[in-house]
Amino acid sequence: MKKYNIGIIGYGGFGKFLHNAWSRLDNVHITAISDPMTDKLQGLGSIKTFTDWRDLIRDPDITLVAIVTEPASHELIATACMEAGKHVLIEKPLAITLSDAEKIIQVRDQTNTVAAIDFIMRFNPLMQTIRHFSQQGLFGRLRRVDVENYAQDEQLPPEHWFWNPDRSGGILIEHAVHFIDLVHYLAPANVLAVNGLKHSRNPQQEDQIMANVLYEGGLIATHYHSFARPGFFETTTIKLAYDLADIELQGWIPLLADVKAIVNSQNKQTLLSNPFFEYAGSVPIGQANDESRPAGWGGTGNLSQSGRQFIYSGGIRYEVDEVVTGVLQLSRPKQDVYTSCVQASLLDVLKKINDPSHPLAAGLETGITSLVVAVRATESARSIV
Ligand SMILES: NC(=O)c1ccc[n+]([C@@H]2O[C@H](COP(=O)([O-])OP(=O)(O)OC[C@H]3O[C@@H](n4cnc5c(N)ncnc54)[C@H](O)[C@@H]3O)[C@@H](O)[C@H]2O)c1
Repeated sequence: MKKYNIGIIGYGGFGKFLHNAWSRLDNVHITAISDPMTDKLQGLGSIKTFTDWRDLIRDPDITLVAIVTEPASHELIATACMEAGKHVLIEKPLAITLSDAEKIIQVRDQTNTVAAIDFIMRFNPLMQTIRHFSQQGLFGRLRRVDVENYAQDEQLPPEHWFWNPDRSGGILIEHAVHFIDLVHYLAPANVLAVNGLKHSRNPQQEDQIMANVLYEGGLIATHYHSFARPGFFETTTIKLAYDLADIELQGWIPLLADVKAIVNSQNKQTLLSNPFFEYAGSVPIGQANDESRPAGWGGTGNLSQSGRQFIYSGGIRYEVDEVVTGVLQLSRPKQDVYTSCVQASLLDVLKKINDPSHPLAAGLETGITSLVVAVRATESARSIV
């Protein structure tokens, strides 16, 4: 089996996690690590260590470099890596400005290297399943995405790079890009309008921020992120409202999604035969509870000539039979799912290196599309005083 030599630049929290996850892959060999903090480079055995990343990229044995440093440094390091002939996997966000992101793409094209962004949510089987159903039209059109995320900041002291917009870009750029990209992954559409709101607890710490995004076709997404509450309240909820389904995911590495879907018999079969779907029950559409029509209100739906019920959602007519409830669930611990997502992300890039016709799951274009939204929303939020 061909083994790929990988270098990691940036050996903080996430760099270590990647090292641990990737060392379990048979075709991967982590051969070099760089971080300016010498204490972080202790105990790495036979791995070559460098305090200056420029020395790492001179190593001719390395095929791919993972860039796991703070966001503002991604452009400088990624372009230098590609100019040195290395393929790259860049941590999100691609960069903190659009001009930096465009420069990375330009250098990729000039050097003909393989470059991807580490959007790990694209490799979560739950997200892949929901996307597959979306593409099949099982749930009808996606109309609304609502991301509500409370994170603790007790481990982020005021001097941490996360709070410095010149180093991180701010919460939407550093963090929300994952979720903005998720919307683009599930339902790609042109962005028509973006705005934002934010709160700063002091001049240095912008701790709550929100982005609203309108897409062509009528999807409206909201991303609310707070880094202000204790860890006890740390939650991420992602609500997806389709014409024919409500889906609610919990956790930033979601393992479970509550599903309530209005289906015809064929779609029911598709849903029930999915290995991640656990069926809870179903009710014929004529007997299902309809909040808009309390008891005694009259008919609950309309009959088509075929004798089936039809309903309207967003002006579109759908023929349906039943309301099905259940969950999409991954029966594995979160740590396992997170590990396999980061492994799959790297394997996808290695596949592209080996086979240029392979379509990357998270090419750099996905990084710039989400960054455009994050930058516009951040500018809008900061323009309101
Ligand atoms: N994809 C994901 O799920 C995910 C999760 C967490 C973090 N991240 C991203 O990973 C990146 C790093 O985040 P983190 O939480 O590990 O941060 P961190 O602060 O824990 O680690 C960053 C490391 O980079 C080192 N560093 C700084 N400048 C460097 C340089 N010039 N050369 C080499 N090393 C340098 C620092 O010393 C530090 O050890 C960020 O872009 C972040 O957004 C992605």
